[in-house]
Amino acid sequence: MEIRIEAHVAHVAVSAADVLESYVRSGPVTLGLATGSTPVPTYRELIRRHREEGLSFARSRAFLLDEYVGLARSHPESYYSVIRSEFVSHVDLADTAVQSPAGQAADPEQEAARYEAAIRSAGGVDVQVLGIGSNGHIGFNEPGEHLDSRTHVGLLAEQTRTDNARFFESIDDVPRRCITQGLGTIREARHLLLIATGAAKADALAAALHGPVTSDCPASVLQLHDHVTVIADKAAASRL
Ligand code: GLP
Repeated sequence: MEIRIEAHVAHVAVSAADVLESYVRSGPVTLGLATGSTPVPTYRELIRRHREEGLSFARSRAFLLDEYVGLARSHPESYYSVIRSEFVSHVDLADTAVQSPAGQAADPEQEAARYEAAIRSAGGVDVQVLGIGSNGHIGFNEPGEHLDSRTHVGLLAEQTRTDNARFFESIDDVPRRCITQGLGTIREARHLLLIATGAAKADALAAALHGPVTSDCPASVLQLHDHVTVIADKAAASRL
């Protein structure tokens, strides 16, 4: 595991964009994209490189980590919409090349199985961007999740709903269910790129990297993977 500690969030974004650019330039690549606020500066840096340096995503495709159940795609906080407004619509990554679980599917369990199969039939993910929840979740795999889980319908922890309430008018509007790639699914990506910024992530990051591998801290599964890059700012890395 490589751990890079950067002085500022802007440096984290450059460092993470460097990792992703090397894949994107190497040929056809399958990216694993994450939403949440953490990767946004990295996406902005990639957008800048696309505009100013000709970085092209035309040969890339992408799978999202997770999605809320019950939000229409058109809802501005659906991850389908968020990844487009934050990244995809600003670069030459074809809209149809970006897949995500359909949160409004009539049968979410069946949709989770379909999505798992879609990732597999695409040959898996080359490099997976991950954020970390303040409770140690990755994707929407909350504490208690089985370390080998596949893409599934899950319940959001109350901590996660509280954390994500800032994106909605009130906490009552935060969905209670999600479809998320499982911990086993995420672990099959060939390279995991975890980004963590801010003091609110310090305890979770320390538990993930230096604590026991346990479903109490889903991000601790990173310790089971042989190709992990962690990029953190000083605040997030303060307990390492
Ligand atoms: C969200 C997402 C995760 C994300 C995490 C941290 O709920 N499901 O994929 O990594 O929680 O979010 P943020 O980066 O906004 O702190």
